[in-house]
Amino acid sequence: MTTQVQATVKYLQEQGFGRPALAIILGSGLGGLADQLTGAAHAPYEQIPGFAPSTVAGHAGRLVFGYIESLPVVAMQGRFHYYEGHSQQQIAFAVRTMHALGASKLIVTNAAGGLNPGFSVGDLMLIRDHINYTGGNPLLGLNDDSLGPRFPDLSHAYDQKMRSQANDVASRLGIPLQQGVYLAVSGPSYETPAEIKTFARLGADAVGMSTVPEVIAAVHCGMQVLGISCITNMAAGLGAEKLAHDEVIEVTVRVRDQFQNLVMELIKSEEW
Ligand code: HPA
Repeated sequence: MTTQVQATVKYLQEQGFGRPALAIILGSGLGGLADQLTGAAHAPYEQIPGFAPSTVAGHAGRLVFGYIESLPVVAMQGRFHYYEGHSQQQIAFAVRTMHALGASKLIVTNAAGGLNPGFSVGDLMLIRDHINYTGGNPLLGLNDDSLGPRFPDLSHAYDQKMRSQANDVASRLGIPLQQGVYLAVSGPSYETPAEIKTFARLGADAVGMSTVPEVIAAVHCGMQVLGISCITNMAAGLGAEKLAHDEVIEVTVRVRDQFQNLVMELIKSEEW
């Protein structure tokens, strides 16, 4: 483990953070789940050594430790994006910190544009696999062998068992759950219709500006990952509307309860 991660873990433990079993990264408009943790300790990103401040509206920007029933959880309420100017290594640092605190599983959530014509605005999509179109990779540079291998295998980046558990819980709750491939771009500009046509041909079902760097870092250090996208709009050229961040937030707020319900029930229903 790197010395910097160790120092950060020590700082968080001094702020009352315990040993989490599960890490959760909450995307745009979905941060409310962290407010449901009991016995919570908080640390604003700007005060955590090694973390950078988050700069996007709709992201609270703090790390929260607490419990869902008896399960200890660490949650990122707001995340770091590549388009904010953070390096993907900085994005990885937050994931490695949560892993070093003790989390062996990660649930990562995001807002995404839909490409699959079978999708509708407001749908939830389980991420089956991803395409890294960001142009970066969080593992560039020297590899710390104590964290994970130089050339990690991503054949099973999104844990099959967690996905099937999520499907079971969703059908029990009557929440429709799509499944598909998430393609990550750097942003911050939304895509052109020509790019979206290309991405559809590449096999993407949804497009967004996050998640992939975090998932690569998580798989690298051996975490099991579940990813869920909230389809907040149809991607450029596929819907009638002009794309706007406010609408993305509006849709996540609309489906937030369903989304939180799914994640909470998932956590409560299984042995994590
Ligand atoms: N494109 C990229 N990122 C997004 C979108 C989109 O259409 N919607 C929400 N995040």
